[in-house]
Amino acid sequence: MAALPTLNLVGAGRVGKTLGHLWQAQGVLQVQDVLTTSPASAGAAAAFIGAGRAVDTLAGLRAADYWFIAVPDRQIAASAAALAQARPTWPPATVFHASGALPAAELAPLQALGWRIASAHCILSFATPVAAVQQFAGTPCALEGEAPAIAALRPLLGAIGAHCFTVQAAQKLLYHAAAVFGTNFLPVLQATAESLWQHSGVPPELLPRLRATLLRHAVDNVLALGPAGALTGPAARGDSALVQRQGQAVAQWNGSAGAAYAALSELAGQLARDGKL
Ligand SMILES: NC(=O)c1ccc[n+]([C@@H]2O[C@H](COP(=O)([O-])OP(=O)(O)OC[C@H]3O[C@@H](n4cnc5c(N)ncnc54)[C@H](OP(=O)(O)O)[C@@H]3O)[C@@H](O)[C@H]2O)c1
Repeated sequence: MAALPTLNLVGAGRVGKTLGHLWQAQGVLQVQDVLTTSPASAGAAAAFIGAGRAVDTLAGLRAADYWFIAVPDRQIAASAAALAQARPTWPPATVFHASGALPAAELAPLQALGWRIASAHCILSFATPVAAVQQFAGTPCALEGEAPAIAALRPLLGAIGAHCFTVQAAQKLLYHAAAVFGTNFLPVLQATAESLWQHSGVPPELLPRLRATLLRHAVDNVLALGPAGALTGPAARGDSALVQRQGQAVAQWNGSAGAAYAALSELAGQLARDGKL
């Protein structure tokens, strides 16, 4: 049987561990070397993935077919520059990062050495690698970058259950903001609601019940009816006097929450009026 293409991981946190594990377990890629900020975390990542040699310096990395720069967004450009600087004689490979907001061009120092660059943003909340491994199948994944790199990544991601599509580099900030609204803000809204319930004297033992019923029903309604169909509340009813008084009360409790209440109420009114934003 032909040897699998090899994958090096630079950064192996929630996303690196999840994809590394899936590629390894499903016989798509052979995870080869893993570099993080410490040998201990690299070793733990390799153990989770079920393969890979923990290395502690860039110079310790061997040539590979694919390189996944799975570090936090703010570290991607510096990691690519350091990689290009460390071993410019590695044969050109396909290198990609996982940021939804930043373009593949963050990897320009490697592109200048002839590497093929891309970004692959999987639209999943990778809360923990254990959960993400279970939830990954069916995840949409936005590809962007050089055509040969996209063509190489598409089957690799498809083999572990991703549904790939392409996004333009110039649209990535807005594209990713959509995921922030759709996923990341939901826990923030829930935390705000729970703080306000506590502040207004709702018995703490009722909070889990409120969370379980309201949140679940809201999600079920959006799934069944779409966002406009599921919308309720004072702004949707056009009760602007109440919206204003309530916004002021929230602002006295917490200025940022008050500003969010006002902005979201305006959007809610628009959604109720026009059926869309
Ligand atoms: N989390 C999500 O839900 C999600 C979803 C889609 C896309 N993404 C994208 O996936 C990428 C990684 O995010 P993540 O959530 O997996 O981050 P993470 O859990 O914080 O993991 C980051 C990894 O990078 C390592 N690292 C940090 N600086 C490094 C450096 N200079 N050199 C080598 N390794 C370094 C960390 O090492 P240690 O293990 O030693 O700390 C860790 O292994 C980001 O581009 C992010 O935007 C995240």
